[in-house]
Amino acid sequence: MKKWTILENIKVEKLVFWGQWFARHTDWKVIFITGWVVPGSIVNLRVLKSKKDYYETQVLDVVKKSPIEKTHPNNPYGMNGWCKRVNIPYEEQLKIKESQVIESFFHTEKTAWEKITISPIVPSPLIDSYRNKVEFSYWKYISAKESREEHFNLWFHKQWEFSKIEDINWFILIKEEINEIFREIKDFTKSSWLPAYDPMTHKGFYRHLLIRNSFFKDEIMIILGFNHVHNDWNNNLNSIKDFFINLSKKHSKIKSIYFSKNDSPADIAIWELELIYWNEFIVEEILWLKFNISPKSFFQTNSHWAEKLYSIVKELAWDDTNNSIILDLYAWTWTIGMILSDNAKKVYSVELVKQASQDWQENAEKNWIKNMEFINAKVEDYLKDYVKTWEKADLLIIDPPRSGMHPDALPNILKFESKTIIYVSCNPATLARDLQFIVKNSNYKIKKVIPVDMFPHTHHIETVVKLEL
Ligand SMILES: C[S@@+](CC[C@H](N)C(=O)[O-])C[C@H]1O[C@@H](n2cnc3c(N)ncnc32)[C@H](O)[C@@H]1O
Repeated sequence: MKKWTILENIKVEKLVFWGQWFARHTDWKVIFITGWVVPGSIVNLRVLKSKKDYYETQVLDVVKKSPIEKTHPNNPYGMNGWCKRVNIPYEEQLKIKESQVIESFFHTEKTAWEKITISPIVPSPLIDSYRNKVEFSYWKYISAKESREEHFNLWFHKQWEFSKIEDINWFILIKEEINEIFREIKDFTKSSWLPAYDPMTHKGFYRHLLIRNSFFKDEIMIILGFNHVHNDWNNNLNSIKDFFINLSKKHSKIKSIYFSKNDSPADIAIWELELIYWNEFIVEEILWLKFNISPKSFFQTNSHWAEKLYSIVKELAWDDTNNSIILDLYAWTWTIGMILSDNAKKVYSVELVKQASQDWQENAEKNWIKNMEFINAKVEDYLKDYVKTWEKADLLIIDPPRSGMHPDALPNILKFESKTIIYVSCNPATLARDLQFIVKNSNYKIKKVIPVDMFPHTHHIETVVKLEL
């Protein structure tokens, strides 16, 4: 079949992996579908690749809606790049994610999984309004096809059309007060007559708006990004500052406001920072730990979910933490290590990105944690040395990126003979692959598999696994 062929009236069956849907052609070949669809719907598709056993396709249009599809009562804007599944009722979203984990396991060699049961998926404590960080972009929306010309807009880039900003005044994944603040800033900046920055010509002023919100302490940080070499900017400086100071009087939760000056072509919100109001950071509290969050800090974007996930990890790991040596691999912001540190003798947290870890050294000190060591290295390199010199780790925590564990690292984790391994995964396919290696090459047994829904309305799924020797 030729590229761009249209396949008509295809019924979408189910999700297979990483945001791709599955259907069957009348010739019995498998069809993989990319796009925002709901299982059970009838769609027209465009063929992108035609292989021996399958077609890769993209959704053109929906011929008939799925019986399960429902417009979310709080989201009139439909499915978009941020909420690809918002029109699928939440219970159905959970079923889809749960079966995705089950399928990933049972697609690999069955012998490894004979006796395991997968626990029911843990739903997110918040279904909407759960994001504690959001970054909007300024630009335009010009479409000849729709005869629209909007030269100043603030929201997200249109999916697959980076040159356009959607004209929407509300976002389902953030709290109502953050939406209100967003609208007030959008109205003010639009009426200030300074232009939105154009990344093609590198001219214009407003570039980004980043808002962070600590959920448990309920503090808000605003960062306005702009091109400070724009001509008229200095004349408007005082009125922009006044607007933000007044905004913080109206919304008392605003504790920190920054300008981020960026005249480089790089499309990055955080650049040369100037604090214009009050605190350098906002404070978040997860379990008993306090975190100072500055503009550049890495932090889980769903605080409620983070608390839930960390509680699950702690519960599964608890029996093995007493006076133990813990290796926290792929540690990111070191949070899991910190949460387990109170009972441990020593925690070694290994992370590749130095910047992710920088603030957290300070945070560990603030929380009186003294038994952690932070290692800026590749896990695969670090383990080679560790097995040579230490040869001991009572508990392993593994939380790798989507690609799973590096093949050089996998055999080495088996050499510690740690009583317990907790594997936290954001990709069921690589999780199943890595677990299969572990189970086949050692005496570890899988004791628990718990799927956790971290980001409702999206395709992301997290799974926590406990292995015991
Ligand atoms: C899923 S995140 C970890 C989340 C973290 N454990 C937490 O609870 O917040 C994966 C982390 O692995 C890091 N990473 C990716 N490849 C790595 C490698 N080869 N060695 C060390 N860290 C790596 C990434 O920078 C990222 O911070």
